[in-house]
Amino acid sequence: MAKTLYLTTPLYYVNAAPHIGHSYTEVAADCLARYHRLKGEPVFLLTGTDEHGQKIEQAATAAGKTPQAFVDGVVQHFKTLWTTLNIRYDDFIRTTEPRHVEAVQQILVKLREAGSLERSSYQGWYCTPDETFWTEAELGGTATTGKPLCPSCQRPLDPVREEGWHLPLRAHQDWLKQFIKTHPRFIRPESRYNELTSLLEQPLPESLCITRPRSRVKWGIPVPFDPEHVVYVWFDALLNYITVPGYRGETPPSEAFCRLWPADVHFIGKDILRHHALYWPIMLHALGFSDELMPTMIFAHGWWKIGEQKMSKSLGNIVNPTVVINEVLKGQPYAADVYRYFLLREIPFGQDGNFSEDAIFTRLSADLANDLGNLVNRTLSMMERYGAGKIPAAGPVGCAVEDEPLRQAAVDLAGRVSAAMDRMEFSVALEAIMDVVSGANRYIETAAPWKLAKQPDLAPRLQTVLHALAEVIRIVAITLDPFMPSVADAIWQQMGHGTTPRRFADAAQWTGVKSGQAIGPHPVLFPRVEKTTST
Ligand code: MSP
Repeated sequence: MAKTLYLTTPLYYVNAAPHIGHSYTEVAADCLARYHRLKGEPVFLLTGTDEHGQKIEQAATAAGKTPQAFVDGVVQHFKTLWTTLNIRYDDFIRTTEPRHVEAVQQILVKLREAGSLERSSYQGWYCTPDETFWTEAELGGTATTGKPLCPSCQRPLDPVREEGWHLPLRAHQDWLKQFIKTHPRFIRPESRYNELTSLLEQPLPESLCITRPRSRVKWGIPVPFDPEHVVYVWFDALLNYITVPGYRGETPPSEAFCRLWPADVHFIGKDILRHHALYWPIMLHALGFSDELMPTMIFAHGWWKIGEQKMSKSLGNIVNPTVVINEVLKGQPYAADVYRYFLLREIPFGQDGNFSEDAIFTRLSADLANDLGNLVNRTLSMMERYGAGKIPAAGPVGCAVEDEPLRQAAVDLAGRVSAAMDRMEFSVALEAIMDVVSGANRYIETAAPWKLAKQPDLAPRLQTVLHALAEVIRIVAITLDPFMPSVADAIWQQMGHGTTPRRFADAAQWTGVKSGQAIGPHPVLFPRVEKTTST
């Protein structure tokens, strides 16, 4: 049986409602999952929430709630947003669920029995918003208060000295270096690969403290063999990627587990590269996972920024996706898809970009309303006017020389989209689709069906032109499906394709439209809007 493609997103902290940064990773992962489903491949998309740790404990206290009541409330915001954004995940794991808690405890016991954990004291600097320890050598400058700053987020760090259970890191360094060297696709894009490679040039800290004393942090998974400690939130959360497919510490991993594992792509933001590309493979290695059982790829995308600052809950400069969809894009019947399009089209996946309402409006008006919406709407209106509301058969002569560039561009599109998706270049795939859309609009201008309609002897030519446009729109709807699923569906219904499934393979074929098929009602897909606010 073919292995199921296993895609994961980070488990988002539930200390506050989601912002566009979270939705970015989620939309990208969903887009890749939908693309592979469209190709008929088995896919499993895992997402969820990270619900333990000091940061969440503090947020719950500030809200006057118990941590459990607090996370039960916030998790709903994530689930609701994923529904709004057309995210089709296969499982949603909350790290407070018994299925995860029990598995983490079993894995800890296994590590201890294997002699992979040591109990010792630790001294370092702690960043609570990032839930990460830093050593003296890694500090990122000093705050005006005299406290050292976090090298990742530049916020002040707290000194911590405590007892705990440690997982050796340096002992695995040579193996990891070699593994990364021989697996260039393990970390993508290349800039992140290089970042990790140079990090590994320096000696790693001796070990990672994977527990916290209950005297400081209560909200965590109890360490089964040491009641005074709870599991460090990152150690608990990373394990979700194997607890969900069913790993419970067995050697070798079970056949059922290996139907999903290893993960094909861990989607993350670049802020958590170190946890995923350093700690995570070392954790797996310590559990006895062979090189073949390491994740295939960790893709670390860039940041959405406001001005020059990263958008983050802790910095308080967030853009709320629900506000963008309900208020900024008010009146758009497919607002969530417009938002998805913007995220994936605006910045090359892997790079940073700036968010602004102006940028969304420009994409909406230039790409979607003027180009895509216009193509669909004018084509369907012409079919109504000149074809009695049906997709006409091509004339007896079929495609003429002047139709060839459009036909060729359309049948080549699936290949261009595939090549881009294999490299996780979502913006390049969308650019390719929009190239074909613009080409079709230019074709309409040149073919001028309204002139053909005035000459009865040119009726067969008019039919051929409209039929060609129907084929192009069919191909566009299929290739657009992973990016804008509701829009693809709307176009499909407007073209009258009804329940015929969209399959990626059909996008590479020119003849897919049923001649004589009645088209459906075709309201405007992207109504023109007057922009009222500005960022
Ligand atoms: N809980 C950890 C992840 C554990 S995974 C086992 C965590 N959570 S988080 O809520 O802070 O979300 C981090 C992820 O959200 C980032 O890795 C990235 O995927 C996304 N983003 C958060 N802010 C972002 C931006 N400003 N821009 C783009 N994405 C960012 O870290």
